[in-house]
Amino acid sequence: PAPHPLVIAIDGPSGSGKSSVSRAVAASLKVGYLDTGAMYRALTWWCLDQDVDLADTTAVAQASRELPLELGTDPSAPSVSVDGTEVDAAIRETRISEAVSQVATNLDVRADMQQRQRALIAEIASATGGVVAEGRDITTVVAPDADVRVLLTASEEARLARRSKELHGDAGSASVEATRAQVVQRDARDSTVSQFTEAAEGVVTVDTSDLDFEQSVQAVLSVVAARGERV
Ligand code: DC
Repeated sequence: PAPHPLVIAIDGPSGSGKSSVSRAVAASLKVGYLDTGAMYRALTWWCLDQDVDLADTTAVAQASRELPLELGTDPSAPSVSVDGTEVDAAIRETRISEAVSQVATNLDVRADMQQRQRALIAEIASATGGVVAEGRDITTVVAPDADVRVLLTASEEARLARRSKELHGDAGSASVEATRAQVVQRDARDSTVSQFTEAAEGVVTVDTSDLDFEQSVQAVLSVVAARGERV
């Protein structure tokens, strides 16, 4: 067992395989899992449900501070509930994916979420002996002192092909083009507030362009093993 709770921070753009790889790494290490993107998605769902105007930055920040959020952090069955309603599927709907950047680029929302995330990381890590936390600003802002920090990247081509398969079931040129708006434009919007396209100092880049899922998981576990020897 790790001498102290092991905090693993993983950032990356959409389609890098971040969520599935992070969950598998957490399951393999038998530690908890925190999906910070799901928190921004849950807040977006809540604002739409409560008729909060997403352009009203003050109202959205207020909603963030009041968000009755419950997260299940078992990597084999992560769950998200808002005020007792399970929203796991609802927060992945296109209407949320299209609206979430507007919430995630609200700086008062980010300050609130980052504070919640730091507390959750500490709580999960002490309860399960460690945590894998994934997002866009975990290696840089939320947990810059994490034991292991990884930036998971992939070429734009590989990211579009993966997302296209997820959304349309294939990676033909029409599907890839339909996906481009969602992946590339959303990342462009999100990168105005978080820098997740280049690794910060001390962050190890794992490029998954030519790796399949299992190889990507193994690549991250190797980084953990290499770092683990030093912690
Ligand atoms: O990873 P995802 O697609 O579930 O993320 C949802 C949105 O939240 C996306 O627009 C990026 C944003 N996000 C963020 O700004 N910071 C994080 N730590 C995680 C996600």
